Amino acid sequence: MKIARFSRIGFILAAAGSAVGLGNIWKFPYITGEYGGGAFVLVYLLTVLLVGFSIMIAEMLIGYLGRKDTVSSFEELAPTYKDLWKFGGFQAMAGLLIMIFYSVVIGWIFNYIITSLEYLPANVKEAETTFNLMLQSDFFTQLFYHTLSFVIITYTLTKGIKAGIEKINLVLMPALMIILSGMFIYSLSLDAFPKAVEFMFAADWSKLNSEAFVIAVGHAFFTLSLGMGAIMTYAASMEKGSNIVKSAFWVVFLDTSIAIVAGLMLFTFLYQYGSGPAKGPGLVFISLPAAFYEMGILGNIFAVLFFLALAFAGLTSAVSLTEPMVQYFMDRFAFSRVKASVLMGLFFWFFGIFAILSNIDGTKEYLFWGGKSFFDWIDYITAAIMLPAGGFIMAIFVGYVLEKSRVEAALKPFLKWAFEPWYFFLRYIIPIAMFVVMLNLMGVL
Ligand code: PFF
Repeated sequence: MKIARFSRIGFILAAAGSAVGLGNIWKFPYITGEYGGGAFVLVYLLTVLLVGFSIMIAEMLIGYLGRKDTVSSFEELAPTYKDLWKFGGFQAMAGLLIMIFYSVVIGWIFNYIITSLEYLPANVKEAETTFNLMLQSDFFTQLFYHTLSFVIITYTLTKGIKAGIEKINLVLMPALMIILSGMFIYSLSLDAFPKAVEFMFAADWSKLNSEAFVIAVGHAFFTLSLGMGAIMTYAASMEKGSNIVKSAFWVVFLDTSIAIVAGLMLFTFLYQYGSGPAKGPGLVFISLPAAFYEMGILGNIFAVLFFLALAFAGLTSAVSLTEPMVQYFMDRFAFSRVKASVLMGLFFWFFGIFAILSNIDGTKEYLFWGGKSFFDWIDYITAAIMLPAGGFIMAIFVGYVLEKSRVEAALKPFLKWAFEPWYFFLRYIIPIAMFVVMLNLMGVL
């Protein structure tokens, strides 16, 4: 059987499609608002550059050398203790867990694309009521769009690497970039643009506490799709002889630029027409629609385009969140691609229903423990614990377990003089940093 592989540009777009997601356009702007702007952005940028880029190279390397699903790749590459190391690959389960809420949020976005065609809330208060109405009492709308999201994602996965994953990214990624660039260029013409620049880049160090630092590191993992084998699984289908370092650079570069462009554009709109940078997850579902309302019919057009771009970003990431487990069942249990995709899809579809119910009045009481809803627990367990743990395992694996000669042979031609500093970083700095972050996020420190 001929094995399907990504083309070079297909791989970069697919890995960037995985990275650029709800994290960039929904989460990054609101946590930037929450943690006070400039200083937080600088720490996030440094983290992406120093920690994120290094682990991106390590994760791609494991996939590229292993050539299989995450579990088999770890198992095959470990020189000793194969049975133990294969558990490193089970981090792929985090993707399916993330999908439980990710698909529901993509569903909200679908709903906003349709409603924004003719309706925008007249002010923040009304926007809040509209959002909460959907969230807390409209079970069937959420179920309908969550199901639509499940169908699109599962269908794409059944088509495989080339005709499914590469294709959806080749279409949706350029579309996303065109929409965002267009809106960004428009925002350049608004008076409030310099204010947005100042908010995002003027560092007020007094606002930077250790929590902001920890959040920046956690977000760097989430936004770069690191720590759960998505990038690893895609890298297993990279062409032989690919330049891993260059690919990693492009993914990090695209992900970071899109986060910054989206942030600048959103804050410009919010300063110009709205109530300034809002805090909290409601930013794009509450404050932004109310700002668009002030722009009249152009606001409707912008709102539809914006939510379309957000849906595109979300779908390409969702595919990458599910693919590792699809690949796992294909490689380890000889499932057909269709069977594996449908089963994985049904998994997140089914549990997604509970994520919806955990916000609905009347059922949410039963899905709430220890101060968090089921929805929030899944977010917390995956982002706060599983991804940093996955990153930690990968750094240890490439830094200490894989033979240095192998790592060197694969990377030195591309990293050149930077190989030794990178290797040092991976072995000493990153494991310590990840450990501290993990303890912090779990509230242990
Ligand atoms: N990077 C995606 C985002 O920013 O929304 C989310 C994500 C995708 C996280 C794939 C982890 C992953 F493996």
